[in-house]
Amino acid sequence: MEIADISIKEVERIIRVDHAGERGAICIYKSQRFIARFFYKDMVVQLDEMLEHEKEHFDTFNYWLVSNQVRHCHALWLWSLGGYVLGFITALLGRKAIWVCTEAVESTVLHHLEWQLNFLAQHDLNAHKAVLSIKADEEQHHDLGSLNGSSAMIYFPIKFIVKYSTKFAIWLSTKL
Ligand SMILES: [Fe+2]
Ligand SMILES: [Fe+2]
Repeated sequence: MEIADISIKEVERIIRVDHAGERGAICIYKSQRFIARFFYKDMVVQLDEMLEHEKEHFDTFNYWLVSNQVRHCHALWLWSLGGYVLGFITALLGRKAIWVCTEAVESTVLHHLEWQLNFLAQHDLNAHKAVLSIKADEEQHHDLGSLNGSSAMIYFPIKFIVKYSTKFAIWLSTKL
């Protein structure tokens, strides 16, 4: 395979994974919002706002995939399921757990975006623009998470599980 072909494949893979990740984020916030409506009503506005951002991000990557005739990830359903489960469990563990989850997800995402942007800057400016367009929102979500979350030991298992399940899902999506 030519080097150019390899980099085109990598660009497609990057946008496909990001598209799938946004689906996961949408489902996390949807189930957290569902629980928050009962127990933490004051959080609903913030969760709604983050949910709207994730929907916009999903549409941005969906548009890119459709207009470049690139298929979406085969594991989209798994991202949905994983997102709903993660959001549901963390929300049941309390409002702090919601923010700890947000921080853990977004810090993994931001770390991932960093190398993607470096790669895309050299290989595909259009895809780079799409990825860059979500960065400020993800940073805002991350900062909200760290501001309202907690660094108490009791939340370490949540951080650990969320972080590594996100990493695993990202890795898996590069294969599917
Ligand atoms: Fe997003
Ligand atoms: Fe986000």
